[in-house]
Amino acid sequence: MGNTQCCKSVDTSPDAAAEAMPTLESWPANPGKPLIEVPAVSGGNSPQERMYKVSLVKTEGQKLGLDVDYMAERSVLPILVISGGIAEQWNRSHPERKMNTGDSIVEVNGIRGNVALMLEKCKVDATLELTICKCLTYGHLVADLEKLISIKGCGPIMVRLSWHDAGVFNGVDGCPNAAMRLAGGGEYAFGANAGLPQVAIPLLQAISDKYVPRLISHSDLWALAANVAIKVMGGPDIVTHFGRFDVQAHSEGVQSAAGRLPDGDKDAKHLREIFYPKGFTDKDIVALSGAHTVGACHGERSGFEGPWTDDKLKFDNTYFKDLLNKKWTMETVKSGNKQYRSGKTMMLTTDMCLIEDPKFKEYAVQYANDQNAFFEDFKEAWVRLQELGCGQLRDIL
Ligand code: HEM
Repeated sequence: MGNTQCCKSVDTSPDAAAEAMPTLESWPANPGKPLIEVPAVSGGNSPQERMYKVSLVKTEGQKLGLDVDYMAERSVLPILVISGGIAEQWNRSHPERKMNTGDSIVEVNGIRGNVALMLEKCKVDATLELTICKCLTYGHLVADLEKLISIKGCGPIMVRLSWHDAGVFNGVDGCPNAAMRLAGGGEYAFGANAGLPQVAIPLLQAISDKYVPRLISHSDLWALAANVAIKVMGGPDIVTHFGRFDVQAHSEGVQSAAGRLPDGDKDAKHLREIFYPKGFTDKDIVALSGAHTVGACHGERSGFEGPWTDDKLKFDNTYFKDLLNKKWTMETVKSGNKQYRSGKTMMLTTDMCLIEDPKFKEYAVQYANDQNAFFEDFKEAWVRLQELGCGQLRDIL
């Protein structure tokens, strides 16, 4: 485990992409080619479009005219202001490689990654050879995520990606660390994660190619993408904290899902066995389960079928209202799994036990009657979930 420190398709919907989903063994089928068409990221999709080089030669008595935003935890220097001097001269004479506020310096005279040294070089070196990436700030990242999630309708699977990255924590190890992206074994190959490496991660590919690791780690990106998704789908504003570490080999992640991730065909006792060791209460279990107000089960991934609510892209308290008010009938689906159905919508056995267990039911009733109470309790439990085992994280990226 090792991470106790923890720290041309007409239909472009993710569901359509999933139908063409390769098997776990065959993925990635063609490493050079994106599996899922996604919208362009700000600044351009290819490195050729978004990266440019600038050469500044300092002269006696002339100011540089370039203010950058320094933060030790980052590996880039975002450009804050261009205020005359050599920088503005460069912009006038090189309109095709003009520096803009919001672009970020990624290399100074051959130095990358170490922002303290890069800043020092900007101050002392007589000539500055800069490599700059267009539109590389937190604001651009959030805008790129909002665009992806709105266009692709992929908010639910982003929420599930973040939950399963963090949800393997068992009270000792298994903190969010993006192990699911690493093919060959471990979290990537868990049956419980089916669809996440094949659909969710390729959906984020263009964004991760641009922003990781320059501005953000994969695991912080997954947490942020989920929170942007919840907001885009009408849910609460959720604060994201940053500083999760990515593992670099699947062997550094968790090796078995047993006892860590829940099974949909089990009972209240199972839910408590899974969630209590992570530090969650009955109230947290009910509030977190409310995320099933968005998204759907896919037969080819989990063996369960159908959406929980009539609008699977709306984050509200319909899940609890439907649980209590609709008439649910048990059915057996193609995989042989048992689930509950009412018209076009479904519930898992673990969803149903939220109204069968008296302690859980108390909260389910409260959330059905009071969406604000659901949002508040969900937010509080969800932020803890996203940060399980991470230690101190920081407020800004
Ligand atoms: C309580 C125990 C839970 C069980 C047994 C469970 C089980 C499942 C299953 C079987 C699926 C279907 C996967 C598929 O076929 O694509 C699913 C989807 C989903 N789960 Fe859960 N889950 C649980 C808790 C949670 C929690 C805590 C969250 C987040 C707070 C969550 C968020 C989601 C979302 C958003 C989807 C929809 C994904 C999509 O549409 O692609 N679940 N869950």
